Amino acid sequence: MQSLAAQITFVLLVLLALCFIYVLTRTSIPAPLEKLTTGAYQLRNRLFVLALVIGALITGFTLLPWPHDAQAAQVTRRIDVKARQWMWELSDQTVRVGEVIEFRVTSEDVNHGFALYDERQQMLAQIQAMPGFTNKVRYHFTTPGVYKVLCLEYCGVAHHGMVADIQVLPKL
Ligand code: CUA
Repeated sequence: MQSLAAQITFVLLVLLALCFIYVLTRTSIPAPLEKLTTGAYQLRNRLFVLALVIGALITGFTLLPWPHDAQAAQVTRRIDVKARQWMWELSDQTVRVGEVIEFRVTSEDVNHGFALYDERQQMLAQIQAMPGFTNKVRYHFTTPGVYKVLCLEYCGVAHHGMVADIQVLPKL
């Protein structure tokens, strides 16, 4: 996933650089301002409408499934999560498929980021771990396996070592 993101970023940067080079090569050609602005304003209006449509589509698509529906399910298990430099302390690390788990996440020192990952390194849920607060995030596992909790907030030299496992067993 990260390498794909890097490749997309690289391609976009090259396109952007080509745009700059194109503009640079055209700066010496004189053109009347009125002629330029009409075309430019038209293009700007069209781009604005396009951005609105794309934004609406992305918003709609990413809100499916509707997050409030996911939160409405009855919690069947609570797990307390304490973050500290540089480890996770979970009140339970074994759960079952189908349980609706509420992770109650806090920190004992600095801000950390609680992030749940599956075996393919896909992030499933995340929430901030903050000293003095208990933040809740719900998740229900649909596949057995070993899941990882990683820290998503840079919290010091051993930030990368903040890893814990959650064992998900098949449904009873
Ligand atoms: Cu804890 Cu980064």
